[in-house]
Amino acid sequence: MNGPRAAADAYAHAALTRESYPMKTLDVNGVELATVDRGAGVPVVLVHGFPLDHTMWDAQVEALARAYRVIAPDLRGFGRSGVTEGRVTIEQFADDLAALLDGLGVDERVVLCGQSMGGYVAWQFWRKYAPRLRALVLCDTRAVGDTPEAARGRLETADRVLREGPAPLAEAMLPKLLPESSRKKNPHVADSLRRVILAADPRGIAAAARGMAERPDVTALLGQIRCPTLVLVGRLDRISTPDEMRAIADAIPGSRFVPIAEAGHMSPMENPDAVSAAMLGFLAESL
Ligand code: MLT
Repeated sequence: MNGPRAAADAYAHAALTRESYPMKTLDVNGVELATVDRGAGVPVVLVHGFPLDHTMWDAQVEALARAYRVIAPDLRGFGRSGVTEGRVTIEQFADDLAALLDGLGVDERVVLCGQSMGGYVAWQFWRKYAPRLRALVLCDTRAVGDTPEAARGRLETADRVLREGPAPLAEAMLPKLLPESSRKKNPHVADSLRRVILAADPRGIAAAARGMAERPDVTALLGQIRCPTLVLVGRLDRISTPDEMRAIADAIPGSRFVPIAEAGHMSPMENPDAVSAAMLGFLAESL
């Protein structure tokens, strides 16, 4: 078997059968953050989606660390990082990233890549820390804020996860994260996602869900982005659709739009080779 499917299967199998990359832990803004920090060169920061952890980027860590310094943290409340109860705003996640970079001694400008919730973090990082950015990669994410109904749903999700644990959320989210064709083709990706969601701390999930409910709409700001920007979307993404992401790309001056075949919302895991190739090509031309 060749092509994206073989690559995704091989990668997912590896993710299931080995420890992920070694991580550093740093005290940052009152919480211990764990991060992968591999390779050397221009720093590329990979920010995971909800309610996941850095392992969603395993394939890109492997591909990019040959030429760049790849930093892939677990956000506050996720993976191996410490948890803050209550509510964590997207701006707080962005502040954590800035402080994490300080803690790692990164004083040069970084490439910041965020998938979905990680993209929400990227918008806020750009808003507050634009001089620290060399380039942006927005992957399967949205610029709009939540509707009042969606925000209410987030708060209900937070309460439910705290009452019942992450299992119902895992079952509700998996069909949205991965299209049926992808779940059939990439059962290891579905297993890996389920495992990560089930292992997530309910307090971390709830805090991020509450933070996402009040995130600002950044649509009107997109025209002010001045750094090289890559917009990636799985052609089958139902959460941040290709049409919506193309509109984001159209609004960002000079950005590049790359649809990813055979992938939904989790394109970096579903078609890792295509995502890594798009990122490497963009970085080679833009830096
Ligand atoms: C994600 O993948 O991070 C979530 O789908 C984001 C969201 O729920 O808005």
